[in-house]
Amino acid sequence: MDKYRPLLHISPSIGWINDPNGFSYAKGRFHVFAQHNPYDTKWGPMHWLHFVSDDLVAFKEIGVALKPDKSYDDVFGCFSGSALEYNNQHVLVYTGAIIGKQQQCFAVSDDAVSYVKPRANPLIGEELLPKEYSIADFRDTFVFLHDGIFYLLVGARKKDGGSAILMYKSLDLEAYEYVGVTLETTGLPNEMFECPAVVFDGGKTALIYSVQFKKGPDRFHYQNVHSSLYALGRFDFTTGAFVKDGPETEIDFGFDFYAPQTMRKDHKTYMIAWQNMWDRVYPSAVNGYAGHLTMVRELKIAGDKLTQSFVGSLSGYQAETIKISERKSRETRVDVTNDNAYRLILDIEPHGKTVISFVKDDSVALTLSPVEQTMTFTRPDIKNADGTSNDRRTIPLVLENGRLHLDIVIDNCSFEALINHGQEAFAMTFFTNQENAFTIKSCSSNEFIIHGLTYHTLKGDAHHDE
Ligand code: FRU
Repeated sequence: MDKYRPLLHISPSIGWINDPNGFSYAKGRFHVFAQHNPYDTKWGPMHWLHFVSDDLVAFKEIGVALKPDKSYDDVFGCFSGSALEYNNQHVLVYTGAIIGKQQQCFAVSDDAVSYVKPRANPLIGEELLPKEYSIADFRDTFVFLHDGIFYLLVGARKKDGGSAILMYKSLDLEAYEYVGVTLETTGLPNEMFECPAVVFDGGKTALIYSVQFKKGPDRFHYQNVHSSLYALGRFDFTTGAFVKDGPETEIDFGFDFYAPQTMRKDHKTYMIAWQNMWDRVYPSAVNGYAGHLTMVRELKIAGDKLTQSFVGSLSGYQAETIKISERKSRETRVDVTNDNAYRLILDIEPHGKTVISFVKDDSVALTLSPVEQTMTFTRPDIKNADGTSNDRRTIPLVLENGRLHLDIVIDNCSFEALINHGQEAFAMTFFTNQENAFTIKSCSSNEFIIHGLTYHTLKGDAHHDE
């Protein structure tokens, strides 16, 4: 019995996965693929592993959709990209990676199960890349339709340092034209944009992107080596520029969150991300696989924020419920002993240091410190490859009328918290043999006030049965 494997979160039956790709709706169901090495629990030649879903909560793995088998992708493989349905076909747009060359390619399918790489590949190569950029680092396509034109965003490294997201356009997803620079990095020369994506909601726009080696202005920001950000603004489709109308900020403050991708269906925008990080140790490798994706989160642009919620409120996947309404206490326990997958919605007013603990020895916990205005997440260490630790992380604690709202999904090794109705988020993985225990404890003589606590057992079918 593998107690690490998530029940609802996407994980591979075998091998390695990283970024989500091709998040889309086609042929009557949702699709998401993941960067995948079927041969090892480490990164290697990239395939696209295909998952399908009817409701964006439960996904089923249905096989490898793309593998490295063409002269333009047969060394490092089929890197990240996106997908859409066009002319009754499911079209995947991805980056073919070989030594010294990354070029934009596509694959098409009539049934959204088997994909063919047309002869026209590669579609965007050196001829369409302005000469200040390097073809060796030109990757991660995001394609979207706007006013009848397909736009494609892609990350590109500058030959003399820094990076940009570039915009291309096409009328048929085959012939592309360069439009211009969407966004440029502003930090250290080794920063590189990866995995752009867009959000259109209620007349507003957000650009999402991941950045390698981004450094933070203070101890709260960009604490991972690589970070995922968003900025609100608008596209100028004639120049390609994204004009920001606010600061850029992290989408998720957790240890494990990278390369989010978005899709839009029936006026709703959804996001899914890789819930791990580069250059870490992966304890699930002992069970033959490494990596999983986040739950799908619905995104909304509310004021100057991108807010997140678990898709469809997870209704249909919640079994037993325990509810606590108003309670003042110095210690409250909820009996979760046999549950490795549960959701906890908590509205709490801390007075003094308060620890919310998820396992018996408190090694997976969240400490609220209203005096210092911080919240600290801890987990048993998962080291960076260079030996440095990832066992605690502190972020600002924002109380609204003295209260903090948390919506937390624990799914075996996965922990995702949406903070203050999805204003902020924190994703991490944790590996422990400790028994579950859910306790809230005050560390002072003060009582905390629970204004509401709802606990649901999560149920789901493991998606590897086929
Ligand atoms: C981001 C990334 C992408 C690339 C893919 C390779 O995590 O490095 O830039 O396409 O992973 O697997």
